[in-house]
Amino acid sequence: MTAPNAQPLASLDEWEDDLKARYPEAGTPQFKATDPEKKKEEFRNYAKNARPSVREFYRLNHTYQSHDFVRAKKADFLKLNRRRMTVWEAAEFLNNLVDDSDPDTDLSQLQHLLQTAEHIRRDGHPRWFILAGFIHDLGKILCLYGEPQWAVVGDTFPVGCKFSDKIVFSEFFSANPDISNPKLNSRLGVYEEGCGLDKVDLSWGHDEYIYHVVKDRMPEEALYMLRYHSFYPGHREGEYDYLLNDHDRKMFDWVRAFNPYDLYTKSHEKPDVEKLKPFYMDLIEEYLPGKLSW
Ligand SMILES: [Fe+2]
Ligand SMILES: [Fe+2]
Repeated sequence: MTAPNAQPLASLDEWEDDLKARYPEAGTPQFKATDPEKKKEEFRNYAKNARPSVREFYRLNHTYQSHDFVRAKKADFLKLNRRRMTVWEAAEFLNNLVDDSDPDTDLSQLQHLLQTAEHIRRDGHPRWFILAGFIHDLGKILCLYGEPQWAVVGDTFPVGCKFSDKIVFSEFFSANPDISNPKLNSRLGVYEEGCGLDKVDLSWGHDEYIYHVVKDRMPEEALYMLRYHSFYPGHREGEYDYLLNDHDRKMFDWVRAFNPYDLYTKSHEKPDVEKLKPFYMDLIEEYLPGKLSW
């Protein structure tokens, strides 16, 4: 078995490219076919075509993201005692994350953030929505602290209760220690029916981290986008509805409104960072001024 600190993806973008292969169009369910046999067949096709690196990435993610693991990462990283940086400094710091991908076709992390935000801006959305687009992946700085890919990106899912079989490559959960603990492997596990997502631990990654960095300073709609943008089993597959409360269900409309900007706005047209910087400095100043704790 590969060591848990292995980095199977050539770049973090490989995960997002795979998401796009699984969800080729905005708002459509994972597999459009309603016939369960056809569904299985489409899944087999997806699984067959998935890159070995992506498969290995999910194997590690599903094996090691246990309830204990998530609690330990939260206890550590959510102290936010690693760095003091402005949002722009964090974006520049994230830009140090250069990977093996082809520099001609791939965007830097900062360019992905700007492309996402600029599409939101072009569609006339409120300023906080644009800012949410700009900061949504800043949590990926976890990689620069030495965290493995499988503890930074990947579709997120609740831990502490049964893993849904609609989670991509769910078969890899067979190696997760929680699966043999009856307390953690029942429908509700450690949770109560309709308890609300705020009480639920999702697998650890960049979403939860950025949420905590800005949680006292942005509108709640933005916070839902930041915290749950990778929760594909929830916002795309409709799984785990029994853990949500009515407020979550209402707020998920915003998570779904955000998703197309994250997934479908990548283009080869590179945003001009220097030209756009003054607009984003103003926006940061409005909602998230000064140095933040990371
Ligand atoms: Fe993300
Ligand atoms: Fe993103």
